[in-house]
Amino acid sequence: MDVFILKNEDECSEYAARMITDLVKSKPNAVLGLATGRTPIDTYARMVRIHNEEHVSFKDVKTFNLDEYYGIDESHPSSYHSFMQKHLFSKVDINQENVHVPSSKPQNVAEFCAWYENEIKKAGGIDIQLLGIGGNGHIGFNEPTSSLASRTRIKVLTEKTRTDNTFDFGTIEKVPMHAITMGIGTIMESRQIIIMAFGTKKADIVRQMIEGPVTALVPASVLQMHPSVKVIIDEDAASALERKEYYKWVFDNRPN
Ligand code: F6R
Repeated sequence: MDVFILKNEDECSEYAARMITDLVKSKPNAVLGLATGRTPIDTYARMVRIHNEEHVSFKDVKTFNLDEYYGIDESHPSSYHSFMQKHLFSKVDINQENVHVPSSKPQNVAEFCAWYENEIKKAGGIDIQLLGIGGNGHIGFNEPTSSLASRTRIKVLTEKTRTDNTFDFGTIEKVPMHAITMGIGTIMESRQIIIMAFGTKKADIVRQMIEGPVTALVPASVLQMHPSVKVIIDEDAASALERKEYYKWVFDNRPN
């Protein structure tokens, strides 16, 4: 894992946006794996800025989102379909046919999930996957004890996740109980992964992800097994790391 501790959220978001848009510059038909939640919002804003100012085109880019709530309308303001349109897709020149977000109401869940996996394969696999980390260590909606080899499927959301996401729905009762999510095995097949976290609230789980054992109890810890992961975090999210100074020293001496 490359652990990049940057000054604040702005620097982290700029770094991630640059990595993604640099990839799109060098590979205009790149396949991007995208996340929702509070963490990537500023990264998307910066990608939009780079698209406008530097004319980086998303015309041939394909995208696959990690997850979607199950059972709500895709037009619901808190659906991940709505989130992605609001923060990114409506603001760049992406072809809507190249956009994939798991369905919130598939007729047959198992068939849909197999189809989603196959679409990722047909696209040639994900070049770069952007992730946030849940307060309980989830990636996508792979909650603690998810199989580390799991594929796209429906999951029950934990009380912790539903509480954390209550702000989107008003009350916890309104937060869906289920979601369709890429599996951990699916995520691990991405060629590169960026995982971001900000703030002291994420400090302990970030420590467990980087310095703890690989365990299904902290799904993000499996990223220790991936050959190309960049953990991009601010000082607050890094505050519980035992080897913080070491990661900074490695970053300062990274090869060009
Ligand atoms: C979102 C997703 C989740 C979030 C995680 C962190 O598509 O898959 O794993 O990345 O819950 O959420 P925020 O960024 O809101 O703290």
